[in-house]
Amino acid sequence: MSDTLLIDALRVIVGERGVVTDPHDLENYNVDWRHVFKGQARCAVLPRSTQEVAAVVRLCADQRIAIVPYGGNTGLSGGATPDDSGRQVVLSLARMNAIRDIDVLGETMEVEAGCILQTAQDAATQAGLMLPISLAAEGSARIGGILSTNAGGTNVLRYGMSRTRVLGLEVVTAQGEIVSGLRRLRKDNAGYDWKQWFIGAEGTLGIITAAVLQLAPQARHRVTALLAVPTPDAALKVLRAARHHIGETLNAFELMSGAALELVARHQAVKTPLASSDWFVLVEASSCLPGLRDAVEALFALVLEEGEATDGVIAESERQEAELWLLRESITEAEAREGRSLKHDVSVPIARIPAFLHEADAAVAQAFPGSRVNAFGHAGDGNIHYNVIMRADADGHALNRLVHDLVVRQGGSISAEHGIGQYRVSELERCRAAPELQLARRIKRALDPAGTMNPGKVMTLTQQAD
Ligand code: FAD
Ligand code: MLT
Ligand code: ZN
Repeated sequence: MSDTLLIDALRVIVGERGVVTDPHDLENYNVDWRHVFKGQARCAVLPRSTQEVAAVVRLCADQRIAIVPYGGNTGLSGGATPDDSGRQVVLSLARMNAIRDIDVLGETMEVEAGCILQTAQDAATQAGLMLPISLAAEGSARIGGILSTNAGGTNVLRYGMSRTRVLGLEVVTAQGEIVSGLRRLRKDNAGYDWKQWFIGAEGTLGIITAAVLQLAPQARHRVTALLAVPTPDAALKVLRAARHHIGETLNAFELMSGAALELVARHQAVKTPLASSDWFVLVEASSCLPGLRDAVEALFALVLEEGEATDGVIAESERQEAELWLLRESITEAEAREGRSLKHDVSVPIARIPAFLHEADAAVAQAFPGSRVNAFGHAGDGNIHYNVIMRADADGHALNRLVHDLVVRQGGSISAEHGIGQYRVSELERCRAAPELQLARRIKRALDPAGTMNPGKVMTLTQQAD
C-alpha cells in the first residue's frame, strides 16, 4: 500500500488530526527522550477509542505493516522507538486518557492507557485513596507504557511491581480483536490469567487500551528521612533494622552513591543537607496509624549508635520531604546531562548487592579506565542501577557483557524494571537459558504470528527450532 493510500485510510479511522506525517512533528516519535535510540516512522497515529485502535491494527495487519505502540516515551530501553526502515507505524495512546471510573469501596480505578500516571495518582488521592505506583517519570509516563514495561519504581518494596496493581485489562490483539477483561475482582481464577501475557510484554503481543487498577488506602502519617552510610553492607544492616522495627510501613529504601549525588549537585543544583559520604539511603515509611515518627526516630538512634549510619535527617515538613525526594529523582536527568552513559538495570538477591558492587567496580575500573560508575537504585528490592559514564568511543557492548556476566553469577537479572526493548535483546538471548527463550518465542508466535507487533523488541525470531 502506498504511503498516500495508507495515510488516507488511517485518516478515515482516526480523523484528520489523528495522523502525524509532518517530519518535524514526527521527531518526537522517532527518538527516545535520552536521544540514544533513533528511527524513522512512516507516520504516527493517535486513535481516540479502543474501536479506533482495533480498526488501525486491522488495517496494518491486512497490509503487514509493523506497529510500534507509544506511551509517554520515557522508557529507557528504546521499546517505543521505531526502526529506521521508514515503514513502521507508531501508535500513540495519548488521546485515550480518560479515567473512566473510581470505585471507592472496592478501591479500584478503571483508566485508559493514555492517561498520564500522575493524573491517575491525583485522581486516586482526590477520591481519598492512593495509586501506589511511583517513579521519577510519573509526570510523563502513561498507564499503557507503565503496564507494558511492568514498571517498578520506588514503592515496589511495599506495593509490588505494576503487575500486582492490575485487576483487569482491555487489549487489542495483533489481529485487531478487542479482548475486554475489565473485571474489578481481587479473586478470579477462571482459567488462564491472560492479562499477565500483555503486562511487561513491551507492546510485542498486542496493545493495552485500558486497565482496572487496584488502589490502596491513603496513609495519613508519612516519614521521609535521609541517612549517610559508610558502605552498601551498612545500608543493608539499616534495611534489616528497618524491616524489623517498622516492618510493613516501609515504602521505599533507596540507595544512592555519593558520586550520584555529586552529579545531581552539578547538573540540577540540588544539594544534600548532609555532609559528603560514600553512600546515602533515602527511607520513606507511612501508616494509617499514629506513632510512626517515634518509631522511625528510635530506629535512627539505633542505627547511628551501632555505626551502621553516620549521619541522618528526618524531614520536618512536606517541603523538606519533597526536597529529599528531589535528590533521588534528579539522578537520571543529571546522568543524562553528564554525557554518554550505559545503563545496567540489574537485580540480585538483596544480600548480594555489596558483593556485586565490589566485583563490578573492580572489573569496570580495570577494563575501562577513566569510566565513572553512577550506582543507585531500589536496594530494598535488590534493584541497582549500575550505570557507567564513559567515553563516546568506548566499547559499550563489552561493558554490558562484563556487568551482566557478574549479575548472572550472583543469580541476578539483566533487567529488573526497565525491560529489554531494543537495547538488551542480544544480552537477554545471551544470558537467559534456551528453554525460557523458546517458551517466550512460542507465546510470541501464538499471539502475533505475522510478527507485526513491535518487531525487533524483546526478542528476535530468526532462531530455528522453537
Ligand atoms: P513508553 O516509553 O512510551 O513505552 C515503553 C514500552 O511500552 C515500549 O515498548 C512501548 O512500545 C510499549 N507501550 C507503550 N504503551 C503501550 C500500550 N498502550 N500497549 C502496549 N505497549 C505499549 N522505570 C521503572 O520501572 N522504574 C523507575 O524507577 C523508573 N524511573 C525513571 C525515571 C526517569 C527520570 C525516566 C525518564 C524513566 C524512568 N523509568 C523507570 C522508565 C520509564 O519511565 C518506565 O519504563 C515507564 O513505564 C514507561 O512508560 P511510558 O508511557 O513512557 O512508555
Ligand atoms: C530510576 O530509578 O531513577 C531509574 O529507573 C534509573 C535510571 O535512570 O537508570
Ligand atoms: Zn529505577
